[in-house]
Amino acid sequence: MIIWDDSFSTGIEIIDQQHKYLFSLSRKLEILLETPIGVDKKEDAIMLLCDFRNFVTFHFYFEENYLKDLNSSDFYEHTNEHTLFINKLTDIDITNFSNEDYNELKTFLNTLYGYILTHIKERDTKLKMLIYN
Ligand SMILES: [Fe+2]
Ligand SMILES: [Fe+2]
Repeated sequence: MIIWDDSFSTGIEIIDQQHKYLFSLSRKLEILLETPIGVDKKEDAIMLLCDFRNFVTFHFYFEENYLKDLNSSDFYEHTNEHTLFINKLTDIDITNFSNEDYNELKTFLNTLYGYILTHIKERDTKLKMLIYN
């Protein structure tokens, strides 16, 4: 579990709110994966994955508009990391959920931890420098 603190702040309130929502989705995913096998969680898993796909797509578009408006010098590298992350989400094969196979979701959770700790903490927080310069 990763808890939001000020070290994740980008200095842009609306983007921080979106990141906090991503943290709450990651908590939901942890809880889903902790639910014992045998409890039917297929529908919840599908809905949660769709929430991730939908929200992350929206968030990236939103953030990329900011990067463009602020003339960010790392626009290309930044958006490239977004694309790689979206690809991880779209590659997950939902049909495996019907066999209670959630391995790809477990892998995705680890990707998400890495994304939060590197992308949000090290790249998104650079927005702070752009708005205060
Ligand atoms: Fe972000
Ligand atoms: Fe980003």
